[in-house]
Amino acid sequence: MLATLTHKRVVLGVSGGIAAYKSADLVRRLRDAGAEVQVVMTAAAQQFITPLTMQALSGNPVHTELLNADAEAGMGHIELARWADLVLIAPASADVMARLAQGVANDLLTTLWLATRAKRAVAPAMNQQMWAAQVTQDNVAKLQTHQVTVFQPASGSQACGDVGAGRMLEAVELAQHCANLFQTGALTGKRVVITAGPTREALDPVRYISNHSSGKMGFSLAEACIEAGAHVTLISGPVHLATPDRVAQVKVISALDMLAASQKAVAEGCDLFIATAAVADYRPANIAEQKIKKVGDAISIELVKNPDIVATIAQLPNRPFVLGFAAETERVEDYARGKLSAKKLDMIACNDVSRADIGFQSDDNAMTVFWRNNGRVQLDKSPKAHIARALVALCAQQMNNLDEQSR
Ligand code: C5P
Repeated sequence: MLATLTHKRVVLGVSGGIAAYKSADLVRRLRDAGAEVQVVMTAAAQQFITPLTMQALSGNPVHTELLNADAEAGMGHIELARWADLVLIAPASADVMARLAQGVANDLLTTLWLATRAKRAVAPAMNQQMWAAQVTQDNVAKLQTHQVTVFQPASGSQACGDVGAGRMLEAVELAQHCANLFQTGALTGKRVVITAGPTREALDPVRYISNHSSGKMGFSLAEACIEAGAHVTLISGPVHLATPDRVAQVKVISALDMLAASQKAVAEGCDLFIATAAVADYRPANIAEQKIKKVGDAISIELVKNPDIVATIAQLPNRPFVLGFAAETERVEDYARGKLSAKKLDMIACNDVSRADIGFQSDDNAMTVFWRNNGRVQLDKSPKAHIARALVALCAQQMNNLDEQSR
């Protein structure tokens, strides 16, 4: 499988139809491709396949009710709608597509469909005559005008004995199509270098100075850049995260290591440099060769300033487009714009770290992004993967603008 669904959140809606048995396999395929899956079943779907099967395969409780206090107390329809990166209805019956096309929201699936900002796709499955019916085709066309992706059904023999178009695509094909939906192509062929995580500054052979950076933002950006078609080198300090697929990871410890690795990677070719690392501002002036002994009531450690990695890269003659980050607790715009110009960045993404619900260790983030000539955009609180995609899209847009201006 070429494209992946790593960390993608898929709500799989199952409507009534014999092809519902294929959805069980689809859950497995989606998870094999790296997705988290929540299954929503219509009442008709439960006549064909049990929620228990889907629960076992997805590893999550199955959602069936809209107006049920217990169900809504868990993950309600709005939460599901917000959670999803993709809502896929497979199989999508003629009836469900008719309701979607009209904006009818009379069960959990059709309601969350209306309430989501995620990508939306349907995999129709029905008798060939029903598929060919003009009203069905009209509904399909209408859904397409609403930016819904329709995974066109295949032809062949059908459960009812007919032969023709209307068979739902196989699970393995659908999983691949879903992964392809996330390939934006905004950075096709571009080379991206990303710094991520904390650095560790050794005091002696066993101790160090560091910080709480998890590396999640940098890793999410690496994935978003891969989705956008880039070649990605991810230079990371010590973190507990798996290397994303198709990313070349360079593991480093200290700020000096990170600087050297960044200079090397940029020299090898770089169009976009993204500095998410929480580089230690200072390092011990001397690293003791032996473990420092516990003598006396106090000790002093002399610290010297670390080089500024992103500023060093931004000063290069053939510099890449440079995106930096800032964490501020007050006067966010002033400080962010100050760093934008002091470090000669092209763009800066700033989070307000006085908020406990976002930032460092959290899975969510919210940011304000600034760029030259008063550019500014607010990215509201959402999972880091979403923020990462929005940031990559912004970088790609600004890189294009600069290209056009220099032509
Ligand atoms: O100055 P401040 O640490 O707030 O700047 C944050 C930005 O600068 C981030 O993009 C960070 O990765 C980068 N940085 C760096 N090298 C340093 C310090 C910060 O690349 N030594």
